[in-house]
Amino acid sequence: MRILSGVQPSGKLHIGNYFGAIRQFVELQHKGHGLYFIADLHALTTIREADKLRELSLDVALNFLALGLDPEKATLFRQSDIPEVTELSWILSTVTPMGLLERAHSFKDKTARGISADHGLFAYPVLMAADILAYHSDVVPVGKDQKQHLEITRDIAVKFNQTYCKDFDPQTGEGGVLKLPDPHILEDTAVVPGVDGQKMSKSYNNTIELFAPEKAVKKGIMGIKTDSTPLEEPKNPDTCTVFALLKLFAKADQLDEIRALYVKGGVGYGDFKKRLFDHFMDTFGEARRRYDELSSNEDYVQEVLKKGASKAREIANDVMDQVRRATGLK
Ligand code: ADP
Ligand code: TRP
Repeated sequence: MRILSGVQPSGKLHIGNYFGAIRQFVELQHKGHGLYFIADLHALTTIREADKLRELSLDVALNFLALGLDPEKATLFRQSDIPEVTELSWILSTVTPMGLLERAHSFKDKTARGISADHGLFAYPVLMAADILAYHSDVVPVGKDQKQHLEITRDIAVKFNQTYCKDFDPQTGEGGVLKLPDPHILEDTAVVPGVDGQKMSKSYNNTIELFAPEKAVKKGIMGIKTDSTPLEEPKNPDTCTVFALLKLFAKADQLDEIRALYVKGGVGYGDFKKRLFDHFMDTFGEARRRYDELSSNEDYVQEVLKKGASKAREIANDVMDQVRRATGLK
């Protein structure tokens, strides 16, 4: 089974990315061949400074490795190191109806907010389809927000197979060149809230970064927005962002105890925030040590990416060979 997913290097990764995505990538690497990549070509739609893109791309690789991705088990690579993906992206674009892309949230939301779109943003889902289809991926684990992109990917794969493979059966997915991937939507991971209570996101400036210096993490956690219930009064855990974040870290019995303290009163938000900080350090302390180690060993990380690219290219070449033959390019 091939498992594939990517993360854009559009900012420093945060606990939402971890609980919503990366934790699953690390778990899934034991269930099949994991192919995980840094979606640097996609990030070009938002990051327009070369040094920043280079730095953030390397940082995503460091994050993956520090959080437990084993390069002997899974393949870690940079999207832009696989030229077959951009080739496939063009080929797919020739069978992709305009209407399909016009309905994409990534494009619709930006234009609705008055942001003028460029072709890169419009074609974003086609490149994502190429990412997935170039490796005959079986399973693609992503957060809910990517659900539509996966539906578009399947639609494009069906369209390609219908156009070029006479034995293709869209009901069973058999007889095509491109494999129809199964989404693995992580519905159960509730959306992780940011320090302002909104969805935590790199683009909302409300994140708790996984690998920020300890002081910054503390400052972020102590700054989580809470209501003004006085220390001695009972508090509602179910509307509290600190409690929502504690839920991600604490074990069931610890959480019961914390809930009881909320309901009873007498404990202030500052105290709950300190507990959250301690849980954060317990959970990520080891990964943070590995991150520091890896940061001073860039050559090793570059080597991992190089090896990963070569493994990924082998697979993509095989698929592209079939695509080139089917289309008459070869
Ligand atoms: P961001 O919104 O911070 O830019 P991305 O869109 O790059 O994050 O998402 C990378 C992965 O992390 C996706 O699979 C996404 O579903 C997941 N993710 C991002 N933010 C959250 C969140 N707040 N809660 C749960 N999962 C998240
Ligand atoms: N669009 C995804 C995101 O923003 C990143 C991504 C690019 C991706 N290509 C992919 C995810 C292929 C899964 C499979 O999170």
